[in-house]
Amino acid sequence: MTDKTILKALRGEVQPTPPIWMMRQAGRYLPEYRATRAKAGDFLSLCYNPELAAEVTLQPIRRYGFDGAILFADILLLPQALGADLWFVTGEGPRLSTVTSQADFDALKPSSDVHEVLSPIYDTIRILKQELPKETTLIGFAGAPWTVATYMVAGRGTPDQGPAHALKDENRAVFSALIDLLTEGTIEYLSRQIEAGAEVVKLFDSWAGSLKGQDFGDFALKPAQKIITAMKARHPGVPVIAFPREAGNRYVGFAKATGADCVAIDNSVSAQWAADHVQVDGCVQGNLASRHMVTGGQALVDETRAIVQALGKRPHIFNLGHGITPDADPDNVQRMIDAVRG
Ligand code: CP3
Repeated sequence: MTDKTILKALRGEVQPTPPIWMMRQAGRYLPEYRATRAKAGDFLSLCYNPELAAEVTLQPIRRYGFDGAILFADILLLPQALGADLWFVTGEGPRLSTVTSQADFDALKPSSDVHEVLSPIYDTIRILKQELPKETTLIGFAGAPWTVATYMVAGRGTPDQGPAHALKDENRAVFSALIDLLTEGTIEYLSRQIEAGAEVVKLFDSWAGSLKGQDFGDFALKPAQKIITAMKARHPGVPVIAFPREAGNRYVGFAKATGADCVAIDNSVSAQWAADHVQVDGCVQGNLASRHMVTGGQALVDETRAIVQALGKRPHIFNLGHGITPDADPDNVQRMIDAVRG
């Protein structure tokens, strides 16, 4: 059995100090990331360059000694591997060719074809297996079908995921076919990540909170359950972290319903509430508001300690409630780590 602290937490062990990593820990707030991205040319070239993608994955490990390293890639590489056009507009975000009709859907590739485009990502993982410190856990990931579909339908990020909601309500057949294709593609993608060396996988459902009523069950819970069931059959013993962001009350029971080993929570719920209602079923990851990485000060230290305290009686992985932002101060990250470990 491994001594890696993240794997211990995911097995259900309570540790005196929770393991810690941070969403978007390899990113623009770090000068060394910006330098490597410039060397690669642009963000997507960085994702598909195994040497440089491994380098930016390692940068926050060298600087801070996080317990976990998350593979450097993006949730939108899977749509690209399925045949969508994908590009990033500086200062604005992703753009994709849209899927809004049966003809658009029919033009996509089958899920078994994704590896041709994604093979450099598996190479990044193989490099990381060689280069990571022996105590660091390597985390693979994918977007959850609903969140990825919101970008594929709209062709970009949207404030309310309106286009995906409209397709879901107006052309259920095409929308469901897209969710099923993404579910199958995600199983393929995560399986290869594990075969290459990922020790944990995380499913990011960043827009789960916009699904209401039965839609949450159908398009957040059910796809996660299908993916996790398939992963457990193919790779027993590899833990899965689910992040149905802004799920609120629907975080309760999510682990049991999907088979996830850990539920990651955002900072719209309190750590004490999560301890009482979510952590009773197992490991919880979270949930410091990422704005503290910008604002710092005593509030950062106090809030970090309060989270560690509230979630300390059961298995916990310390993290932010969402990704760190480009305007964060790298020194505040160190202050957070000191507050967790000190
Ligand atoms: O360090 C890590 O967390 C690993 C790498 C990672 C990235 N994106 C790198 C990235 C991970 C796990 C993601 C997940 C991701 N990507 C999500 C889910 C999590 C979340 O944040 O809600 C989503 C929705 C995306 C899609 C995406 N990628 C958007 C909307 C954007 C543009 C917005 C932005 O922050 O600029 C990206 C770009 C992106 N992905 C960057 C990074 C480091 C910034 C690109 C750059 O360097 O210019």
